[in-house]
Amino acid sequence: MAFRIAQIAVVPAFAALLVGSLAPAPARADAAPAAGDAKHGARIAYTCFGCHGIPDYRNAYPDYHVPKLGGQHAGYLAAALAEYRSGDRPHPTMHGQASSLSAADAGDIAAFFATPTPAVGGKPVGTAPAAAQICASCHGADGVGITSDYPTLAGQHADYLEQALKAYRKGTRKNAIMNGFAATLKDEDIHALAQYFAQQQPGLATPQPPSGPQAP
Ligand code: HEC
Ligand code: HEC
Repeated sequence: MAFRIAQIAVVPAFAALLVGSLAPAPARADAAPAAGDAKHGARIAYTCFGCHGIPDYRNAYPDYHVPKLGGQHAGYLAAALAEYRSGDRPHPTMHGQASSLSAADAGDIAAFFATPTPAVGGKPVGTAPAAAQICASCHGADGVGITSDYPTLAGQHADYLEQALKAYRKGTRKNAIMNGFAATLKDEDIHALAQYFAQQQPGLATPQPPSGPQAP
């Protein structure tokens, strides 16, 4: 698809401009380093499986799927936990969970869930909605975040992606970059984007607790 080639050349420059012009820059300083100890993470992640290890488990109010963490980028996972701790992402359960972890433990758990991460730069599945062109410069045309700072959207539950985009649009979930991008999206764009990225494969998975010979 020709438009995608042109877009790859143009969009990163635009995104860089946009990122540069938005203040404050995304807070990453408080996130644990991405290279955590995955084996230690596996040992302390057991409480997480109570929700994140059950396929199709749902948040109660409002009703949407608990996000898939398996294969998510470690840098993003650690940053997300820091945001729940600080309250930039409001969610009482996750605030409690994240607050019980030291930054080092959060980094270790992030390293555990991240393994294995889908490869960057795969072939997109289906036809991207027009609104997805701008997303590709960070989240990849196939929904796999191009660096560890950018969450992978591929294979994520569509209703969770919708919920996240609406929270950015409303400003209840705070992130300078995503608040900007979501502000211009209509409900139907959000729906189409969520469906598109959710169908991308390979993508995120519901993680399984370590067991048998793989157990740490
Ligand atoms: C009682 C259920 C429950 C438990 C236990 C739980 N979570 Fe969550 N988690 C959720 C829900 C619901 C969300 C989505 C919240 C939102 O909309 O922001 C979430 C979101 C997350 C996210 C954000 C994912 C993303 O794509 O942005 C991370 C990271 C996370 N949880 C990690 C953990 C870790 C690590 C543990 C264990 C220490 C844990 N969770 C335990 C329910 C739970
Ligand atoms: C300039 C880079 C950039 C662009 C372009 C961008 N995003 Fe993001 N996106 C991010 C970052 C960084 C985060 C993590 C923010 C945070 O920590 O809350 C994010 C988070 C998200 C999330 C939350 C993921 C989760 O697991 O909770 C969704 C959904 C999302 N973006 C969708 C989109 C869509 C759809 C577009 C295009 C309309 C887009 N993004 C464009 C950088 C970008």
